Amino acid sequence: MKLAIVHNQPVREGETNWESSVDILAQIEAIEASLLELKQNVVRIPFTRDLAGFFQQIREQKISGVINLCESVDDDPLLIGHPAAVLELMGVAFTGSTARALIISTDKLLSKKLLQASSIRTPSYFYYDGGKAPQSLDLIFPLIMKPRWQDASIGIDQESVILNSKGIHQTLEQFHARYGPLIVEEYLDGREFNISLMGYPLTRTMPLAEIDFNGYPADLHRLVGYRAKWDESSVEYRTTRRIFPDNLPVSLARNIRRIARECFQLFDLQDYGRVDIRLDSRGRVHVLEINANPCLSPDAGFAAAAAKSGLSYTDMIRDFLVFLKERSDK
Ligand SMILES: Nc1ncnc2c1ncn2[C@@H]1O[C@H](COP(=O)(O)OP(=O)(O)O)[C@@H](O)[C@H]1O
Ligand SMILES: [Mg+2]
Repeated sequence: MKLAIVHNQPVREGETNWESSVDILAQIEAIEASLLELKQNVVRIPFTRDLAGFFQQIREQKISGVINLCESVDDDPLLIGHPAAVLELMGVAFTGSTARALIISTDKLLSKKLLQASSIRTPSYFYYDGGKAPQSLDLIFPLIMKPRWQDASIGIDQESVILNSKGIHQTLEQFHARYGPLIVEEYLDGREFNISLMGYPLTRTMPLAEIDFNGYPADLHRLVGYRAKWDESSVEYRTTRRIFPDNLPVSLARNIRRIARECFQLFDLQDYGRVDIRLDSRGRVHVLEINANPCLSPDAGFAAAAAKSGLSYTDMIRDFLVFLKERSDK
């Protein structure tokens, strides 16, 4: 099988959100190194709006399998599923979720509606797309604003938390002007977990990861915002360590695994994914979001969970190739 890593182009250095965007290069390099170790030929093909160029590269290089890392096209997260859709139309097998699953899970509004309709808890919210904020809010403050279409904690930091209704209208308007449509949901102060799942056609959950906020400044809201994810010099980065707790109550761990599997099935994910979870003040499990396309950098949560389950990075990539082969043989 002649393989290609198909990826989005990172934005130019210094542009907004460059830190999260350029992470794609770390993923590409790590995967290439593993494929080399597995003696598997691979080329890189960026996916842009130049479709003719893309077709030509796939055809000329006789690509029969793709590692699809695309998180956007030209930095537009609304187009996360389009590279996968093109590959589906071309009949080229690829790793990861289908176009359909990528698009649906990237939409934080639709995701919440699907979760609610399936009786899976997700924080109560309202949707804000400009105009007046709802007059009477049936929500408990503080609230947190999140862009409907972003990930990587873009737009999420301390200033995303709304403490009370005073000035809420102006806050929403300003945030909306910057990030577009917003989910405004109850801020849950409980423990945060993320759970990675992997497999095809059947999926399994990997060890449960928790964010350890030990040392996190007491005067800040505990969240894994943009600084915590991408700014190594920030206090938030240093005090949001990933741990794999081995003393979780059995019923809680079982519950989180069950919910994560339900999400994987409901959103029709394939090969791999990660579900982000928070507990509320009563210890109930809420789903924050489903990542059909979790970051695959060696230092990110998915690879860490794979390592914890005994798979080296290269073992993980080898498994992806098995899923790919299985699917392309069908
Ligand atoms: N309702 C919430 N209550 C508390 N923290 C939240 C809530 N929603 C998001 N966060 C914090 O923001 C982070 C990013 O939010 P998430 O919904 O996972 O979006 P993204 O797609 O940007 O990762 C979470 O990991 C969590 O720390
Ligand atoms: Mg998240």
